[in-house]
Amino acid sequence: MVSHKLLAFVTTILCLSVELALSKHSGITRHYKFDIKMQSVTRLCQKKSIVTVNGQFPGPTITAREGDRLLIKVVNNVQYNVSIHWHGVRQLRSGWADGPAYITQCPIQTGQSYVYNFTVTGQRGTLFWHAHISWLRVTLYGPIVILPKRGVPYPFPQPYKEVPIIFGEWWKADTETIINQALQTGGAPNISDAFTINGLPGPLYNCSAKDTFKLKVKPGKTYMLRLINAALNDELFFSIANHNLTVVDADAVYVKPFKTNTVLITPGQTTNVLLRTKNHHPNATFLMAARPYATGPAAFDNSTTSGILEYHLPSNSTKKTNKLPLLKPSLPIFNDTTFATKFNKKLRSLANSNFPAKVPQRVDRRFFFTVGLGLSPCTNPNGTCQGPNNTMLAASVNNVSFVMPNTALLQAHFFNQSKGVYTTDFPANPPFKFNYTGNPPSNIMVSSGTKVVVLPFNTSVEVVMQDTSIIGAESHPLHLHGFNFFVLAQGFGNFNPNKDPAKFNLVDPAERNTVGVPSGGWVAIRFLADNPGVWFMHCHLEVHTSWGLKMAWIVMDGNRRNQKLPPPPSDLPKC
Ligand code: C2O
Ligand code: CU
Repeated sequence: MVSHKLLAFVTTILCLSVELALSKHSGITRHYKFDIKMQSVTRLCQKKSIVTVNGQFPGPTITAREGDRLLIKVVNNVQYNVSIHWHGVRQLRSGWADGPAYITQCPIQTGQSYVYNFTVTGQRGTLFWHAHISWLRVTLYGPIVILPKRGVPYPFPQPYKEVPIIFGEWWKADTETIINQALQTGGAPNISDAFTINGLPGPLYNCSAKDTFKLKVKPGKTYMLRLINAALNDELFFSIANHNLTVVDADAVYVKPFKTNTVLITPGQTTNVLLRTKNHHPNATFLMAARPYATGPAAFDNSTTSGILEYHLPSNSTKKTNKLPLLKPSLPIFNDTTFATKFNKKLRSLANSNFPAKVPQRVDRRFFFTVGLGLSPCTNPNGTCQGPNNTMLAASVNNVSFVMPNTALLQAHFFNQSKGVYTTDFPANPPFKFNYTGNPPSNIMVSSGTKVVVLPFNTSVEVVMQDTSIIGAESHPLHLHGFNFFVLAQGFGNFNPNKDPAKFNLVDPAERNTVGVPSGGWVAIRFLADNPGVWFMHCHLEVHTSWGLKMAWIVMDGNRRNQKLPPPPSDLPKC
């Protein structure tokens, strides 16, 4: 009898401790509701009705701990079709929740809703969410903050406070009209009127002194700024007057910390930096400013957004903050590629036992992708186009300008209905060799199609992305959905397959989801295709994506049960 009781007791204890262990490892479920609605806001002296989440601009912050499940109900109450992408979230076996319209889902139509259901696994840092259809992400965006599991510290001193800093881009005119007209005439869309910090342009723009983001800090403390570039078409330099920044995390992966005065951040990238405030009240206020890194042939918005870093005055002070001098940072010149190269080379994975860099050491499939601009024949019904010689501006990967299908690729793939939707012949190499970064070939017309690459589960993939100087050399921030990749090396001119692989860093390369292909150069990346689904890859300069600089990978199911994509949720939107 006694032994039975003892057994029962021991069993209870065992069960309890298993439960405790589980609760430590599996997270909680967090619910959010995104009501997509119009909201009238005033910027640069002009009132405008914009698409928002819950009337907020920028949109609400999603906060989760590593391991948590998110259930986000998106209800569309605007006249546009909408879909939301959780940029950088790995979406392990939850590809139906990724969000790019016509890739993983049909858009949510007016009056309809969809619950995005996914778990955040193995990531910590900052990401962001944004609309993923046409140019709606111009106002539909917000931060995603991923905290480590409860009780797990950062691999750097715990900051006193954490502050999201999300950069945006603002047009006075209606951006849907701008891009639709540009795509019809084949010309370049109008450039923006301002950049913003947390939705505010700042004092360097007309009528905007009142629309300035202020960061109030205490002396002698460490703040963590969660930088996010949600701008549509511009990479940005960011700096704070008289303060150093220590980069500690990029794209929700910790990096080896390094100090810098200026951060370079492309659309689609996120960077956590530590800001150590001065030990004593400095008797000054400090401008924090961002303006473009621009290398392309086209006009760009050369304006500067700024916010103010202000120290709390000691309680016995008689001074007034607004009487203090305002110090300004000096930012690199707009085309400072030397700075860009140096900065990017400093980004390294921690690559230690707690945070190993799992760089694929062998490669199953190699790809060489040219990325850049080109031209296509005029299709404007009125017969005239605004590209060179009555053509239309276009962009391509391996000279294929991607055509969006009318239904979602993931659905077509999952239900074996690819016929008439996509073909699996996306080229692994450019159609012909030329001096990619020299004088362009005589024929610079792109081809077009909805072509994908099919990869068996667990394929180790290497992609060298080569910028072309057709129309003009330009840095292209390439973003891959569903994976992080390792940035092995970058260089200028044409990639040399005989010499350059010797320079690949297979030890501690940066691990990210978006990388700038150097202007007039190349970058080599590797990733392991261990996530079944359809994964979009595209330039995160929205204008280039609109012109066709995009493609998709289909990763097949593996053999094991936990290597298969589950069927779609019942509320998946229909086209
Ligand atoms: Cu941030 Cu496909 O996008
Ligand atoms: Cu681009």
